[in-house]
Amino acid sequence: MSVVQIVPISFDRFNALADREATERIRAAKARLGNKAVLLCHHYQRADVYQHADLTGDSLKLSRLASQSDADYIVFCGVHFMAEVADILSRPEQISILPDLAAGCSMADMASLAKVERAWRELSSVMNPDEKVTPVTYINSAADLKAFCGEHGGIVCTSSNAPKILEWSFARREKVLFFPDQHLGRWSGHKMGIPLDEMAIWNPDLEMGGLTKAQIAKAKIILWHGYCSVHQMFQPAHIIKFRNQYPDGKVISHPECSFEVCRQSDAIGSTETIIRTVKDSAPDTRWLVGTELNLVERLAEEVKHEGKIVQFMAPTVCMCSTMQRIDPQHLAWTLENLADGRVVNQIKVPEHEAGLAKIALQRMLDAS
Ligand code: 13P
Ligand code: SF4
Repeated sequence: MSVVQIVPISFDRFNALADREATERIRAAKARLGNKAVLLCHHYQRADVYQHADLTGDSLKLSRLASQSDADYIVFCGVHFMAEVADILSRPEQISILPDLAAGCSMADMASLAKVERAWRELSSVMNPDEKVTPVTYINSAADLKAFCGEHGGIVCTSSNAPKILEWSFARREKVLFFPDQHLGRWSGHKMGIPLDEMAIWNPDLEMGGLTKAQIAKAKIILWHGYCSVHQMFQPAHIIKFRNQYPDGKVISHPECSFEVCRQSDAIGSTETIIRTVKDSAPDTRWLVGTELNLVERLAEEVKHEGKIVQFMAPTVCMCSTMQRIDPQHLAWTLENLADGRVVNQIKVPEHEAGLAKIALQRMLDAS
């Protein structure tokens, strides 16, 4: 008996597609797939991809949507860790897909399992971390770090629930090791009333994180030395200039921005919160927004009919270059293959790792 192998169509045949043709082919493939596929889209996706979204959201909302979907295929227009979360939270027979495997997150790459395990070992020379420290990983991290948290009594957080997750953590243990984003950790700790001098930076490239025993003993939160290269572009000087020009203007930023940018903003929130806050604001309000450019440009368009003006915080063009990798050509290639029964770019977290990571994710969903 001969076995028929279904070989995926190579991406090479889609690479040179004109945007308009790619768009038509996406529409046609989506129509053929019907409700077998759902397109989940993060708010940083480019307009020519975002227009095809079935559902949009920030990381927390998209995690919930992935866990509730009935579709056979969850096509994630976002970055790698998001497609991993979709795989972990969906049913075993559902398939999570990332249209371009090169769509990673440079911040997530700043913490690896080897380095976090080393930090845990080094901390154990001064205390028993499994009794004293809750490991908290930002959702922007690889699945093996979520699994580490699941195994060590820890939890996942997102930009929309981090203070609540810190409360959960401190109710169980006296300290937190927060990775990989120092800014989200610091801002959330500050919101809880933890003084800045009780938050220490752990440099993973130095022995003992570059900290003395006394500094570790004093720290309530040990912050990993990680950051988002997009959000670090936003500076307090941009806010000062805006406020001088428009004293009635409002400033809203993502908590991945530096502490000073957050402190000088009128509001802080996840991508979903930023969009909702600006949309719910009074007509004719002027906003300065500290988050990724695709979101800001879309939002500016959507609210301009109400007389609202939305400005991007940085003077230079800074997009999330990895989010940007999901383009109409990759999406057309993915969907046409799926419509023909060929799965490409599946994201599959190994079973053991997925089980432990799910524990940490479920703790977050229950606590949020
Ligand atoms: P949100 O969860 O706020 O959408 O943030 C995800 C992200 O990667 C921001 O850089
Ligand atoms: Fe990662 Fe920053 Fe891009 Fe968000 S904006 S996906 S944190 S690199």
